Amino acid sequence: MKLEGAKALITGGSEGIGRAIAEAFVAKGAHVAITGRRADVLERAAAEIGAEAIAGDVGEEADAVRTVATFVERHGRLDVLVNNAGIGYSAPLTEIDTERFLEVFRTNVTGAMLMGREAAKQFVRQGGGHLVNISSTSGVKGGRGGTAYSASKFALKGMTECWRDELRRHDVRVILVNPSEVLTDFAAKLGREQAASEKKLRPREIADAVVGVLEIDDRGFVPELSVFATNPF
Ligand SMILES: NC(=O)c1ccc[n+]([C@@H]2O[C@H](COP(=O)([O-])OP(=O)(O)OC[C@H]3O[C@@H](n4cnc5c(N)ncnc54)[C@H](OP(=O)(O)O)[C@@H]3O)[C@@H](O)[C@H]2O)c1
Repeated sequence: MKLEGAKALITGGSEGIGRAIAEAFVAKGAHVAITGRRADVLERAAAEIGAEAIAGDVGEEADAVRTVATFVERHGRLDVLVNNAGIGYSAPLTEIDTERFLEVFRTNVTGAMLMGREAAKQFVRQGGGHLVNISSTSGVKGGRGGTAYSASKFALKGMTECWRDELRRHDVRVILVNPSEVLTDFAAKLGREQAASEKKLRPREIADAVVGVLEIDDRGFVPELSVFATNPF
């Protein structure tokens, strides 16, 4: 696809990886809208990037429906949805708080499904589209403390495979992207310190990977890719 002139919606686009993807799409000439729950943070980011803001919570059905409907009303179509909004929670099995476990699933699984469902209806109506799900290497391999987050990202991988099978016959490409550790505020929001390093991934590398897979001619697509830091040690 050509990103120039494309109409793209990026969830969780006010910070981190989503923001970098939005910036990369705008640089390619796409018309971009970003979403997020905190309207002030979102509006500021949108103004800085040159994108539109549509505030909302992906895990709230009414918000997800309104977000896609607002976008399509404004632009007449939707070419790309990037399901990027996500939260983490790390705890050993014996200490898992049920509310926090469910909140991870509400955002990372239900939220991605709601946004994906609404986008898919539009893709089928218009005869094609591109859906990128931002998962994680934690969605490929589990590890200590990862029960909630890993399970949510494994679920996203499962949903991606189902959607791919359902939607490719409608000319919709469904792509899963698995970043490993990226320097964002994600860890700080979990109360974890993230050691900074020039060698760790920045959001920009994930954005470049997403742009790269989307720019392949629509005849083909990359179903899944992981992005690792070359030498973070
Ligand atoms: N950073 C990493 O090391 C890493 C590695 C692999 C995968 N990932 C994945 O990459 C994605 C982005 O992570 P990040 O590191 O960029 O996180 P981040 O810096 O914390 O940014 C998260 C973004 O998502 C938004 N968001 C969170 N919950 C939302 C909800 N319910 N509805 C709408 N927007 C919501 C946030 O805005 P509001 O809080 O205002 O809503 C913010 O814009 C996530 O899916 C994450 O799992 C991250």
